[in-house]
Amino acid sequence: MTAPHPAADPLAALRWYVEQGIDETIDDVPTDWFTRPETARPAPAPVPAAVAAPPVARSTAPPSTPAAPARAPVPIETPQLALDAGEIARRCTSIAELEEAVRAFDGCALKRTAKHTVFADGVAGAPLMVVGEAPGADEDRIGKPFVGVSGQLLDRMLAAIGRSRTENAYITNILFWRPPGNRTPTPAEQAICLAFTRRHIELAQPKVVLLAGGVAAKALLDTTDGIIRMRGKWTELALGDGRTVPALPTFHPAYLLRTPASKRQVWADLLALDKRLGELAG
Ligand code: URA
Repeated sequence: MTAPHPAADPLAALRWYVEQGIDETIDDVPTDWFTRPETARPAPAPVPAAVAAPPVARSTAPPSTPAAPARAPVPIETPQLALDAGEIARRCTSIAELEEAVRAFDGCALKRTAKHTVFADGVAGAPLMVVGEAPGADEDRIGKPFVGVSGQLLDRMLAAIGRSRTENAYITNILFWRPPGNRTPTPAEQAICLAFTRRHIELAQPKVVLLAGGVAAKALLDTTDGIIRMRGKWTELALGDGRTVPALPTFHPAYLLRTPASKRQVWADLLALDKRLGELAG
């Protein structure tokens, strides 16, 4: 479909942009990155100060500054970026260091359009770690995961089994930046963030991981199986340090909002989760 000309019909042009997922204004004029090879790939992956310096206190508060500088170069997706991310993540020895490393990392193009880096919320080191897909508009605005309507449903789901992000659950996503227009993240974007997310799970050392939705489950379990096939089945999530952690895929709260009839299955998953956590605690 051809875009309506902005001068001829500005409202139709704006509507067309939003329908195409263009919901952020970055610059006044387009930049042809293909003609600027010197800026196409970021300089060598930044090594966060925290990796070399003593750990700093972990802050769950959203950063007061935007996630990306206004004119940061757009990284071209290459497998090397995921390797860089993996190398940086491996060198982090605490969640505080990892958070600082993620905030300093400029190798994921999503960061350029995001308002905030959305790292995690809740009690780091809690027995239950929930991993979702990606920040949405509310999470991007506030800087914390699962704070919109699906997050409110997630909170109610956790409360039903005596869990909460203020006491005994830790919440994150496989992506730290909102994909523009909530589009599905590309495999390269996922691979880059996953390097950090796997290390995040290693450092948080949960007893159990709840995988919220097909995107998180497929990415972390490295499978092409769909969520309908996977949900409710316990599996072992392999970590980079050779350990594994029990993981339970379930439907994403956003899916439940669209398909309330599936809440019955998720209730069964929550009961199984509660039972397993009880066994592992005892
Ligand atoms: N959906 C997710 O997967 N994560 C969030 O943080 C919010 C919505």
